[in-house]
Amino acid sequence: MGLELKIDNLVKRFGTREIFRIEQLHVQEGQSLHLKGENGVGKTTLMKIMAGLEKPCSGNVSVTPNHRRWWSDRLHPDVIYLHQTPYVFMSNVVDNVAYGLKLRKGNRHDVKNKVQQALAWARLEHLAEQPAYSLSGGERQRLALARAWILAPRLLFLDEPTANLDRRSVSTVAELVGQLLEQGTTIMVSSHQSNTVTELCNRHLQLEDGALHEVESLTQVKRYA
Ligand SMILES: Nc1ncnc2c1ncn2[C@@H]1O[C@H](COP(=O)(O)OP(=O)(O)OP(=O)(O)O)[C@@H](O)[C@H]1O
Ligand SMILES: [Mg+2]
Repeated sequence: MGLELKIDNLVKRFGTREIFRIEQLHVQEGQSLHLKGENGVGKTTLMKIMAGLEKPCSGNVSVTPNHRRWWSDRLHPDVIYLHQTPYVFMSNVVDNVAYGLKLRKGNRHDVKNKVQQALAWARLEHLAEQPAYSLSGGERQRLALARAWILAPRLLFLDEPTANLDRRSVSTVAELVGQLLEQGTTIMVSSHQSNTVTELCNRHLQLEDGALHEVESLTQVKRYA
């Protein structure tokens, strides 16, 4: 059964300040979405709510099929959110990549093999033994993607994965995201501007003045002009 995410009448406030009010959104498996919006409009907050990491004030997010993790009624095992500022653990790159799989109690041999594959996929093999905190911004993003890839999510939220990256690193991230899409992963990527990663997306959502609108992609607008 295809994974689906639905939003119904979602409202988020911090104190008395309303951040957004979103009536409906329906995301189907295999789609790729660009969540666009100026700084501070609520992209991170919305993605965290969709990923089950933050609570809305009212309304509902449902991800189906519905296999809940035992420690939370909101987190979904097929859904991963990658933070805007990728955090790393105080260990080397290998341990950082292996962390999620170890939590899922994979057998040691499998974990080792999968970690090797993930490092190769994200082009991090040459950094395997390096302390993760010493990675550059672009390398950290690749580490974050490798950590997600190894867990084979069906729905992946990428929060500003290209912030502070130079053009070459942005294209590398775009290549990896493109491969995840080819594997059938549903991806939502937030970014305040378009770039080679967001150009991979087939749906474009704009968060503005507390509301979410579906917009045509820039290329579509051009085509009809
Ligand atoms: N825990 C919190 N308490 C109070 N206000 C918050 C909290 N978290 C976020 N906000 C506010 O909510 C608004 C939306 O924040 P959010 O981080 O979701 O925006 P964003 O669109 O991701 O911005 P950026 O593009 O800078 O990453 C901001 O004005 C922020 O200050
Ligand atoms: Mg943000």
